[in-house]
Amino acid sequence: MPLAIDILTLFPRMLEGFMAESILGKGIQAGLLAVRVHDLRSWTTDKHRTADDRPFGGGAGMVMKPEPVFAAVEQLQTSGCRRIYLTPDGVPLSPSLARELSEQSHLILLSGHYEGVDQRIRDRVIDQEISIGDYVLTNGTLAAAVLVDALARFIPGVLGEEKSLTHESFTSKLLDFPQYTRPAEFRGMSVPEVLLSGNHAEIEKWRQARALEKTRQVRPDLLN
Ligand code: ADE
Repeated sequence: MPLAIDILTLFPRMLEGFMAESILGKGIQAGLLAVRVHDLRSWTTDKHRTADDRPFGGGAGMVMKPEPVFAAVEQLQTSGCRRIYLTPDGVPLSPSLARELSEQSHLILLSGHYEGVDQRIRDRVIDQEISIGDYVLTNGTLAAAVLVDALARFIPGVLGEEKSLTHESFTSKLLDFPQYTRPAEFRGMSVPEVLLSGNHAEIEKWRQARALEKTRQVRPDLLN
């Protein structure tokens, strides 16, 4: 059975193009993973389809109400599924976390408002809280998309060539080396000679050196 992912959001249309396009879209088409996007408002019961309300204790903004989220999760959850809330105060997404999630059988992703969700949701129907970085998005829908994209790459067959995974940033602990394609000469800029040489050992040496240089400049913290 392919990994099944249920995404709960107030903005389902934000995900339509994303799920249909590119490598992720092909993976879904090929049945390597199944992604279902749900509008949280379909679990509201009032005429205005209210999914959020003002915070107790005062303060700006709106907080997502517990009832629709509990109802949605209780309907969708399966035994052994992982229920994840996307939030800037969660644990940071890393390659190892993305890989671990890609090996699960069922994920439920809850994307919230920037102001947050009622704490009782986090206490009772969420297993893990994940942040995609130290910045705040207007809502968690894009964060859920990023998480799906990052983990999909670890599902066998999603990336055409298996080797594109092993050769790249973060798997090797180094940033990427520069890439070139045709033409070999463009507006007076030429491709480094070694890449045209056909000498694979030399090419590999050059790539390692460039990756190390780039990492030193941009992310010296990765070298420790
Ligand atoms: N929602 C808003 N900002 C977010 C972030 N950085 N990571 C995950 N979810 C979020």
